[in-house]
Order: sequence, then structure tokens, then C-alpha cells
Amino acid sequence: MVPYQRGRRSFVKLSMSKRVSRTAGPSPFDLHVSHQCKTPADGNGRNEEAHLAAEIEDPNRRDVLVLAANAFAAVGAASLIWPFVQQMNPDAGAKALASTEIDLTPVKEGQAITVMWRGKPVFIRNRTKDEVAAAAKTPVTELPDPEVDAKRVKAGKENWLVMVGICTHLGCVPKGQTMADSKGDFGGWFCPCHGSHYDTSGRIRKGPAPRNLEVPPYEFVSDTKIKIG
Ligand code: FES
Repeated sequence: MVPYQRGRRSFVKLSMSKRVSRTAGPSPFDLHVSHQCKTPADGNGRNEEAHLAAEIEDPNRRDVLVLAANAFAAVGAASLIWPFVQQMNPDAGAKALASTEIDLTPVKEGQAITVMWRGKPVFIRNRTKDEVAAAAKTPVTELPDPEVDAKRVKAGKENWLVMVGICTHLGCVPKGQTMADSKGDFGGWFCPCHGSHYDTSGRIRKGPAPRNLEVPPYEFVSDTKIKIG
């Protein structure tokens, strides 16, 4: 608004001087209108003055320029801010890996699969009735990391065991997922790195591993599908 007001004052001053010097000449209003004439200045310099008045007075043109400059500045600032905002948002890939859904239909009794979740292997075993019974009847007093089997599975779905497949000793991936694998002294998983044995509930029974295999957060989203994470 400041350039506009200054222009207005300049115009009034110029118009007044014109009125004094030209007693029979055009009014200031005439000068303002005549700036639209495209012809060269006449002998009295009339058009030249008129163009100068128009140059000084024309507030709309200046406002448009100021507004346009502000608009460009705003767009420029927004385009700088946007990448930072984008960087703060979770990456789409990270979102997708935060949870994963697994269809359990193909995994028959006695079989196991390994899926990846947040970059870690997750063991899913469809335990046999004997494996479930062996895990359930083990006295917790015999366990280095006491935990009942019922706490490691979902009620009504005791045959499904879901665990992070990383040994709690130094992080090896234990054996026991395939039929040909050694399953250790307790029929579950065996970590050959330093000889840790896990039972059919994934609990540590023998060897240097200090804790049971971790059960990740998961839920059944249907009768045959789980969501991990
Ligand atoms: S990492 Fe498994 S026993 Fe050492």
C-alpha cells in the first residue's frame, strides 16, 4: 500500500502544478485520461507529462506487481517447505512393513513357514497336537525363562505359534523350520551357533540363550489370517 499512496501524492502535486501553469489547459483529470494516447508528445510536451503522471499515478499496475511478487514468494516458500513436510511423513514402504497380514491356509499341521516383518524373520508353526500337549505340560519351574505356553499363543488357536526367529543369545536364526532341520533336544528349534535348544513353545531349555524366542504383537483378523504388528 505504501507505493500506492506515494504515487497518489505525486500525481496530485503534478496535477496542481499543471493547473497553475496552464490557466486554459486541460484539467488534471484530462491529463490522467490522456496517458492512454499512444501518439508521441506534442509540442507542449503534453503527452510526455501525461505518461509521466500515468506512470506515477497508476496504483493498479503497482498493486498487481506487488501482489504477483508476493504470490511468487509464497509459492517459492511453499515449495521449499513441502519437501521438509514430506520428509517428516512416514515413508510408504515403512508403513507397509509396520504390519503384515499372513494367510495361514496353506500351512498344514506339523508345517512351518518363515515370513519377514520389520526386517526380521518370523516363525509360524502349525503345531501338532503332541507338540501342543508337550508345551502345555512342561512345569514352568523347569524353565530358565518361566512362561506358560498359554501366554505365548491365542486362546482357541493353541496350535499356532508365532515367534521372532532370532536366537536371544547373539542373534543367529535357529534351525527347526523345515522337516529336515535339527529341532534340538526338546523338539522345537536348535541354534547351532552356540548350542541353544528351544522347546515346542519356543522357550529356552538348554544352552546360553537367556530368554525365550520373542512373541511379536499379532492378532487373528479372520479364522485363517493373522496380522503381525
Ligand atoms: S546365537 Fe544362538 S546360541 Fe548363540
